[in-house]
Amino acid sequence: MTPDRIVRTFVDYYRERGHLLVPDTSLIPPPGDPVLFTTSGMHPLTPYLLGRPHPLGRRLVNLQRCLRTTDLDEVGDPTHLTVFEMLGSWSLGDYDGSQSLRWGYDLLREGFGIDRDRLHATVFGGDDLVGPDTGSLRTWGELGVPVELTGEENWWSNGPTGPCGPDSEIFVWTGQTPPEGTPGTDDRWMEVWNHVGMRYHRHDDGRLEPLRQPNVDTGMGLERMEMVLRGGRSVFEGDGFEPWVRTVSGLWGQEGESLRRVCDHLRSAVVVVGDGVRPSNTGRGYVLRRLVRRVLTTLWRDDLSSSLSDLPPEPLLHTLDRFRQRVDVGDLRDLLCEEERRFRDLVQRGRPLVSRTRSRGPLTDQDYHYLHDTHGLPRELVDGLLGGAG
Ligand code: SER
Repeated sequence: MTPDRIVRTFVDYYRERGHLLVPDTSLIPPPGDPVLFTTSGMHPLTPYLLGRPHPLGRRLVNLQRCLRTTDLDEVGDPTHLTVFEMLGSWSLGDYDGSQSLRWGYDLLREGFGIDRDRLHATVFGGDDLVGPDTGSLRTWGELGVPVELTGEENWWSNGPTGPCGPDSEIFVWTGQTPPEGTPGTDDRWMEVWNHVGMRYHRHDDGRLEPLRQPNVDTGMGLERMEMVLRGGRSVFEGDGFEPWVRTVSGLWGQEGESLRRVCDHLRSAVVVVGDGVRPSNTGRGYVLRRLVRRVLTTLWRDDLSSSLSDLPPEPLLHTLDRFRQRVDVGDLRDLLCEEERRFRDLVQRGRPLVSRTRSRGPLTDQDYHYLHDTHGLPRELVDGLLGGAG
């Protein structure tokens, strides 16, 4: 199934059950929002999960682009992405979590054709404040899906405060042999969908208050879903990455983890620029700068002459098109090349400085602080490119 077909199948399923489509928003939250980027489909819906009536009603569905920097160091493995698309469904104080799991199960089985024995669920087993999620446990039991009980991994919140609650994650078996173990013991179980019982509000003082309106918030990773439906083991085999993988391996001979990191970061940088961010030393612009610099650090470890100016327009256009962004591809390339030029200057200035400091012995924390605070050389650059760790 192509990503578009997956989206259509999901959205149509929920529309047939009275959900209205919420238009997707950019990665940039509205002014006043404390987070830098939209990290999940529920994020723009926060006020409505807390009780404000939504203009489209109590049943919603959408596709939202998201960016998570918490996973930045995991990017490079086959399943984590910085920018990804999330399909979501919501009950704003309408139907309950059991109904959501039943529809979820039905859609996976009938809509996407996944066999029951390839499914596994995890459920919140309770902690000091909140008891186990017996409703989800019972529902999965009735549906005949095996369950693993966990603790905090099955508690979802979008930050230290705000709406939160116990969740039930659905995993699909991606192994070539019959399923074995549980999601906690065998990573061939791939998480594709999370159903959260958004029933609490965490306040600034840490207090957990039950919401007057219990909600259900679900999120399915589109790229992961495409991967499990293809029978693949890597999100980088999907449609959205095909032109990137081909281009990056052809141009610069990258493979394995480096190839995945360069593809993820370049594609993410394109989407972030497409949503209006420009490189800088703070906030969103710094996230963009780090993405581009991590790409260059990876490329220059092998060959200092590698340059983003060699990128053909195809992968850039493919991503801008996928995310429905109107940015001139020439301007986008100019921006990436200008960022590369600044970074090359920094590397050239940094190399003699680091080697002088190194000549006095291995770098200390104080040296790293000095190189960063006085010369703008972050530790990952000093160690990764300038011989600091050597
Ligand atoms: N908020 C949950 C998540 O992002 C489900 O949408 O996983």
